Amino acid sequence: MPSLVLLSRRTFGLISYFSFVALILFTSLAIAQQTANRSTALTDDQVNARVESILKQLTLHEKIGQMNQLGAADWSFKADPVSPQEHARRCDAGSFLWTTDSKLMDQLQHIAVEQCHAKLPLLFGFDVIHGYRNIFPIPIGMAASWDPAMIEKAQSIAALEASSTGLNFDFTPMVDIARDPRWGRIVEGAGEDPYLGAAVARAQVLGLQGPQLGTPGHMVASVKHFAGYGAADGGRDYDSSYIPEELFRNVYLVPFHAAIKAGVGTVMSAYMDLNDVPASGNRWLLRDVLRRDLGFKGFVISDADAIKSLQVHGYARDPQDAALKGFTAGVNMDMASKTYLDNLEGLVKSGKIKESEIDEMVRPILAIKVRMGLFEHPFVDLSKSEAILNDPSHRQYTRVAAQRAMVLLRNENHTLPLNKELKSVAVIGPLADAPKDLTGSWGVENANVGPSILQAVRAKLPNAKVDYVVGGEMKRAFLPVPWIDHTREDAKPMTPEQLAAEVNKSVEAAKAADVTILVLGENSTMSGEGSSRSTLVLPGNQQQLLEAVAGAGKPVVVVLINGRPLDITWASEHVPAILEAWYGGTEAANAIVDTLFGDSNPGGKLPFSWPRGSGQVPIYYAHNRTQAPEDAPDFTSRYWDISSFPLYPFGYGLSYSEFTFTNLHVSSPTLKIGDKLEVTADVQNTGAIGGDEVAQLYIHQQAGSASRPVRQLKGFERITLAPGEKKTVHFTLGKDELSYWSGQTKSWIVDPEQFDVWVGGDSKAPLHSSFQVEAAQ
Ligand code: BGC
Repeated sequence: MPSLVLLSRRTFGLISYFSFVALILFTSLAIAQQTANRSTALTDDQVNARVESILKQLTLHEKIGQMNQLGAADWSFKADPVSPQEHARRCDAGSFLWTTDSKLMDQLQHIAVEQCHAKLPLLFGFDVIHGYRNIFPIPIGMAASWDPAMIEKAQSIAALEASSTGLNFDFTPMVDIARDPRWGRIVEGAGEDPYLGAAVARAQVLGLQGPQLGTPGHMVASVKHFAGYGAADGGRDYDSSYIPEELFRNVYLVPFHAAIKAGVGTVMSAYMDLNDVPASGNRWLLRDVLRRDLGFKGFVISDADAIKSLQVHGYARDPQDAALKGFTAGVNMDMASKTYLDNLEGLVKSGKIKESEIDEMVRPILAIKVRMGLFEHPFVDLSKSEAILNDPSHRQYTRVAAQRAMVLLRNENHTLPLNKELKSVAVIGPLADAPKDLTGSWGVENANVGPSILQAVRAKLPNAKVDYVVGGEMKRAFLPVPWIDHTREDAKPMTPEQLAAEVNKSVEAAKAADVTILVLGENSTMSGEGSSRSTLVLPGNQQQLLEAVAGAGKPVVVVLINGRPLDITWASEHVPAILEAWYGGTEAANAIVDTLFGDSNPGGKLPFSWPRGSGQVPIYYAHNRTQAPEDAPDFTSRYWDISSFPLYPFGYGLSYSEFTFTNLHVSSPTLKIGDKLEVTADVQNTGAIGGDEVAQLYIHQQAGSASRPVRQLKGFERITLAPGEKKTVHFTLGKDELSYWSGQTKSWIVDPEQFDVWVGGDSKAPLHSSFQVEAAQ
């Protein structure tokens, strides 16, 4: 129904572009003002001298206390006969976690620096994952923006808000590569690709920490979960990962390395067994790889209870052995389990650990505190907090971020954008009027919850008749997670008759409306930690609802609210428009409705390959070519029942504009190892409105000392183009992009071989060129 939808798109495009630029400037100014008193970085010598002078004054117990992080939330210290205040007084802890109670943090900090003999300031840790008060899209959505500058700014707002309350230690970013979306924590990362993952990791660290540790309004970040957590067997959370070293170094470690190069202060060790050795007790991993190879200088904190769990894994004999194994492996701080607090002193007394080794482990913790300026400024001026948390520019920026995260998966016959003059709209689905789900479910207890999609549609179309039907329900079948609000799961389930009635009502509403906005997906409690699934089908009665509503014969637009790809194969064949909106944060609903009605033009791209169903997983574009590839005439390495290709490829996403890529140019046909060459291409907006395209560069090495992936992302840039405008994008290829870790030489190498290069709008880009790498003389 193109006539319904074609408004003055050019005007819309320009208005939203200019308001976007103005908002960015406004927000940057606000942040710059709030962080104006930037402290200058201390030199390593200054830090070391300070650390030594502190260390000399500490008793063994006080040193061990620094290596201990204790829960300070109501639920976490219930089982402990000693209160957090008393622990602080006894110098038992270097850090507390899980509380966001500013008064409690302030009180504990006073006790630590005034009453505990050591007088050492505390770190207060929390999972500020995608915002504190004003919530940005969940990380997989942020990654879908392919916009590191936006991600950095969003995380700097998150840090500013959180740090105003007394928090100073953030368990973010999660950079685990995830290639199996059954794993619930795919929602917390940047998807399947190491190059995109590295760019997102860098942006997050810079946003959270600022240009250096100690920058006012920022926090120390913790990159997690080191490493390989996303490769859990069968996609089951916490299950073992078996990762060959080639894959580990070329894929899984890459975003961690980027975070370390960006200066991340702490690393969180993972829960699972990595090649049979638990990551939090894995000396090779935490010392050889992390410190020696990746050059990490900060401190390692275990994941919650991971030191104690070394015994559960069947790796440590008892708690004392667990403490010894975690310590020996290189975990500086024990999160929440008290295994260090209860056992390290005994291990020193029995001679199994030397006090000098304890010193060695405490130094990086003290160094981070020194660099953060905590000794000079342990307290936060809480009187400023409410103003910071309620800064309207923060909330406005969540709308920008949610718009930029949006991925348009399908748009037949220009179904979208919809016309604001529509007379009647049906808004249907269990997530259509569920505002809390839009902010996600983890680390968001202090969130500003914005409007629901239904409310946002009503606000956008004040003169239209907007009907709403819930349409059914979905529930997590079992496995409640203690830290998540399961009110909805606990509610009495609908009977089959009630469900059927909901579907019928939905069909009637769809028939009576000009357009139906059908909101499908997963409750936010269905993604995240402890939230793995065996299938990707739409949960509850949503598939039935979808088919019934689409069968009503009127235009239907599907909006997806989710943290993992779902099986939408049927929708991709029967519904003309599908918009992926994620758990988009505080202003998600307004951003969705802006996009549906053309006030914002979607420009996000998928950070993972979208599978047709769970039978295809794990699935990723950067796989090796087999001896019988997809384009071979006979035997191909594919299933006989479905294609091996994903439903939508990595890097894919549509726009209301159209873009063409031409004129791919490689600056030289040959390149000596160690030199660089430039790749350029022209991108033109051939559509009628302004919009964004993400130019992506992929390479393939044709032969060499190992089989290399069919394509690998090695550059990208999100650009904004006015209608008709053309821009040249520039990429540089050199050693960093062309090298890989070889299992044969056990080192990073560049092979002198022929390479393909493509530039385009997704990982299937056809525009191709090539170049030859030659051995350096
Ligand atoms: C999660 C971490 C999180 C930690 C602290 C653990 O259960 O795996 O990602 O940072 O809890 O909340």
